[in-house]
Amino acid sequence: MNQTILVTGGSGNLGSHVIGQLTGQGRQVRVLSRSVRSRHGAPAVEWCVGDLATGEGLDQALEGVGTVVHCATDGRTQHGDVAATENLLKAGARAGSSHVVYVSIIGVDRHPLPYYQGKYRCEQAIQESGLPWTVLRAAQFHDLVHFALHQAARLPVMPALADTRFQSIDTAEVARRTTELAIGEAQGRVADLPGPQTLAMADMARIYLRGTGRRRPVLPITLPGKVARAYRQGLHLAPAPLPGGRTFEEFLAAGPELKPPAAARRAAR
Ligand SMILES: NC(=O)c1ccc[n+]([C@@H]2O[C@H](COP(=O)([O-])OP(=O)(O)OC[C@H]3O[C@@H](n4cnc5c(N)ncnc54)[C@H](OP(=O)(O)O)[C@@H]3O)[C@@H](O)[C@H]2O)c1
Repeated sequence: MNQTILVTGGSGNLGSHVIGQLTGQGRQVRVLSRSVRSRHGAPAVEWCVGDLATGEGLDQALEGVGTVVHCATDGRTQHGDVAATENLLKAGARAGSSHVVYVSIIGVDRHPLPYYQGKYRCEQAIQESGLPWTVLRAAQFHDLVHFALHQAARLPVMPALADTRFQSIDTAEVARRTTELAIGEAQGRVADLPGPQTLAMADMARIYLRGTGRRRPVLPITLPGKVARAYRQGLHLAPAPLPGGRTFEEFLAAGPELKPPAAARRAAR
């Protein structure tokens, strides 16, 4: 069966990789976006304008759709993603969708960052929706760390969270796993997907400076509060990295384009 697969957030970092991989496998893909665009103008990609926050356009977007790959995120508010996910699930139930695949973040059930708590509530809404579901929790993308370090390097002294480690992962690898899950049957919660190394943020900052040929002192800073403490405790980490994928250094060596999260792109307009 080759039913249409709807990708929410298909204009975003992860979503655009997922679209490329699904169409590469001959799947019929529809993208949900708030903007009219033709960035993915391939014949197999249908662009559908709609807004998860208001529910506008969702019934049309879900018509004839079997699997929904939910990659959309607002990122600016804790509650926005929850309401958006609930709107999507209601529309999916009306349309008789057969599988919802959601990409979440490692540690969202234990980490106090409000954005992560919102993601956890989205996971719960999906589990309670009555629709068949799969949830994949991934680590922070190399693209996100790259953007954060680029911002930090604008200062004469580059701040980095002290005693804080990340297991960042190549976005294309998360997309590969997401695509595999979207093509298969619903599996519930699958194994977490960390990147290939556990690196201190200060070391990532030095890798970034070396990779971009800049010179700055790196200043480890200890922020107060429960969110910074949770990062120091590693509540966003898997017990071990998953060796084999592209490391942060290899990612930078390929000269990646800077990819801010969609919320930052919209705020800059
Ligand atoms: N970035 C990371 O490090 C990371 C790590 C693990 C998991 N994740 C998860 O992976 C998913 C994708 O992340 P990403 O970094 O690729 O996101 P992103 O680049 O910021 O893209 C988010 C997309 O969401 C869409 N969107 C936002 N609000 C919408 C609304 N109201 N209605 C319809 N579409 C809406 C935007 O599309 P339009 O602007 O075209 O409407 C945008 O393309 C998210 O769920 C995120 O939490 C991310």
